[in-house]
Amino acid sequence: MAVINKLAINQFRNLNNQYIEPGNNINLFIADNAQGKTNLIEAIYYLGHNRSFKTKTIKELINLDFDAFQINAKTDKHRIKLEKSRKKTLITVNQQQLKNTSELTKILPIQIITPDKGFVVNGTPKNKRSYLDWGVFHVKPEFLSNFKKYNKTLKSINLLLSNNNVLELDFWFLELAKTAVKISQSRVEYIKNLKKTNSGEELEKLTKLFNLIETFDYKFNSGWPKDVDALNSESIYNYLYKNKQFLLKAKYLNHGPHKASINFYLNNKNECFLSRGEQKTLSIIFWLSQVLMLVKSGVNPIVLIDDISSELDENKINTILGYLDGLNIQTFITNISDNLSIVDKYNTVVFNINNGVIKLQK
Ligand SMILES: Nc1ncnc2c1ncn2[C@@H]1O[C@H](COP(=O)(O)OP(=O)(O)OP(=O)(O)O)[C@@H](O)[C@H]1O
Ligand SMILES: [Mg+2]
Repeated sequence: MAVINKLAINQFRNLNNQYIEPGNNINLFIADNAQGKTNLIEAIYYLGHNRSFKTKTIKELINLDFDAFQINAKTDKHRIKLEKSRKKTLITVNQQQLKNTSELTKILPIQIITPDKGFVVNGTPKNKRSYLDWGVFHVKPEFLSNFKKYNKTLKSINLLLSNNNVLELDFWFLELAKTAVKISQSRVEYIKNLKKTNSGEELEKLTKLFNLIETFDYKFNSGWPKDVDALNSESIYNYLYKNKQFLLKAKYLNHGPHKASINFYLNNKNECFLSRGEQKTLSIIFWLSQVLMLVKSGVNPIVLIDDISSELDENKINTILGYLDGLNIQTFITNISDNLSIVDKYNTVVFNINNGVIKLQK
């Protein structure tokens, strides 16, 4: 179970030299607008991903008056230190320098629910893949090496295509077909297990509370055209081989696992027809299912929810918090006011943020 017991944030946006000791379950941060709620969520996310969900520019993250930020955490098993300036990154875990971000993601699995990252239902394929692959990686870590290999192969193919170099193409097509199958296999298996995890009683618990009597379904889209069998390397290779001339004209490969997605349906109605409220509700059910599946696989993620009541009504907040409380995982939630009646119900630690200063509410 991943739990942050101590968290120090220095010079990260408006959070200067802040230190907190979060509780093991629900941590609620209350603040008015522009006090630092999203910054706190972003800092915790950063620690688990070595990147932000808001920006690619390091400069934006460093407090205006400084030239580096640090986020340090003591979890139940590790001491993590992350320091970043515009030119340099230093990450240590238990005082050992870290080489791969994936190791960080593994020891600090973080699931985020925020309008800043966009909803998964009717969201961009990129965002869908990001949530999907985050889950796949946590239940099947070897997914990452296949993914890296695939990206390298794809890059070589695109380079050959753009240089009109036909000679080596077949070799790389074969390589790509092999790794593409592995990636799709892991994703298909994950979605199958996700649906299994979340059938029957578990799903009912969520959908009933959301007054969702309709059926919610999602289907994997492999990124290949319909006539290609994504789980068969021969089928992929044949497709690439047959379309060689077309690909040489296009100069890049526009199909494959890098274009995969998930299609969501409510009562057989495609996600694009759903109301924003329905899209939001289904996104949350999907995210909570992922959390549940990881908990069942022994990976207890930390859940971040920014601005909970701007997106959800009291009834839904109640459902979600009750659900997360039942899973016994650590969550960080921000909200603009302290009128959440559910706070007393659960084992909640409440903090206030005022102009970048985080204080435990007494
Ligand atoms: N690099 C930075 N240095 C200093 N301050 C920053 C930096 N980046 C952002 N800020 C400031 O941090 C403040 C808090 O931002 P944040 O997005 O966390 O607010 P919030 O509490 O989430 O507000 P809202 O309720 O409107 O979402 C803002 O005033 C913003 O201008
Ligand atoms: Mg905010």
